[in-house]
Amino acid sequence: MRKLFLASAAILGLTALSAHAADNKQIDMLHWWTSGGEAAALNVLKEMLTKEGWVWKDVAVAGGGGDPAMVALKAMVAAGNPPTASQMLGYTALDYAAAGKMGDLTETAKKEGWDKVVPAALQKFTIYDGKWVAIPVNVHSVNWLWISKPVLDKIGGTEPKTLDEFIALLDKAKAAGVIPLALGGQDWQEATLFDSVVLSTGGPEFYKKAMNDLDEDALKSDTMKKAFDNLAKIVSYADPNFAGRDWNLATAMVIKGDALVQVMGDWAKGEFHAAKKEPGKDFLCPRFPGTDGSVVYNSDVFGIFAVSADRKAAQVALATATMSKDFQSSFNVVKGSVPARTDVPDTAFDSCGKKGMADLKKANEGGTLFGSLAQGYGAPPAIATAYKDVVNKFVHGQITSSQEAVDTLVKAIDEAK
Ligand code: BGC
Repeated sequence: MRKLFLASAAILGLTALSAHAADNKQIDMLHWWTSGGEAAALNVLKEMLTKEGWVWKDVAVAGGGGDPAMVALKAMVAAGNPPTASQMLGYTALDYAAAGKMGDLTETAKKEGWDKVVPAALQKFTIYDGKWVAIPVNVHSVNWLWISKPVLDKIGGTEPKTLDEFIALLDKAKAAGVIPLALGGQDWQEATLFDSVVLSTGGPEFYKKAMNDLDEDALKSDTMKKAFDNLAKIVSYADPNFAGRDWNLATAMVIKGDALVQVMGDWAKGEFHAAKKEPGKDFLCPRFPGTDGSVVYNSDVFGIFAVSADRKAAQVALATATMSKDFQSSFNVVKGSVPARTDVPDTAFDSCGKKGMADLKKANEGGTLFGSLAQGYGAPPAIATAYKDVVNKFVHGQITSSQEAVDTLVKAIDEAK
């Protein structure tokens, strides 16, 4: 009897061990890359790791900008069940690190010399207390226009260089019976648009003061009021059905020629790429009018959590794959973003991607590279949330003047601090 018990215990033990071993080969990744372009980009990573023998498990939580994904992540971490890694923005990885939840990739980072190739602006968000807690995946920027070339030609327009020219172009589209602006009426998209409007209205120094330093005088200023006025004007060119629209559906309006232009981060280019559209021929990608020379950026990072020792190898494999020069090129070509390393050639990128890389380098050297407040790179999450809320209320008429908007914004940011 005793012998039998020992034998079955051994079998049970073995079964448990092999299940465990199977677990160790698994990479579960929480992310919000669910649009066509995003899924195609993520596939580059899945394929790379699957070839190496890792088992990929998607934990996808739809919702551009990632707010729903971050709610899901919080619940998983609170339940003591963190994924191998999670897509994150800005201060999120640092916040989890401060709470003692993050793992440590410093050994891999040292071995692979990450500190020599990752721009300092990104290291600020991936290193906590001297330890690498997140893997930089890419650099996106938000101050772009995505213009349908056929529609632009049809209405006889040209690329706008200033806000006034932009408004004149939107008027031209309207007069021609085309939807001028493809807008997704969700708080994060409206705030992403407003980042560009603030930069264009006030210039680089003003953007930094208001949106990164959260300087109260700047936030209360006439320039900020003017920015809200400009936002109201621009939003008035959207079609009546914009409320709640997903960002990729707005991009699809431009791709199909149903609308002239979308103002969005360069993840929109991932949609053009997935639809096999070519820059210069099918669409144009100038910077948001009046923001040439500055880059308002965000960067996707894979935050890695403190996990049991047997799950660490998966994190290291993910890190090594993600940081490889090959991946940084092939992934970002599809995603619409640019590499998070400075030593990746631009050869494989289209003209928008090449421009994105050159702009980033120039802005970084010239001190005009700024974090996007809407995307969590201007201030910690609570402040970004307050900002998105105020912009959303303004766009949807719950805040009725730009004076009320700046007053509400100053108060909301103050309370969120
Ligand atoms: C992320 C992008 C993503 C976009 C829309 C942004 O916050 O940085 O990677 O494509 O949201 O989902």
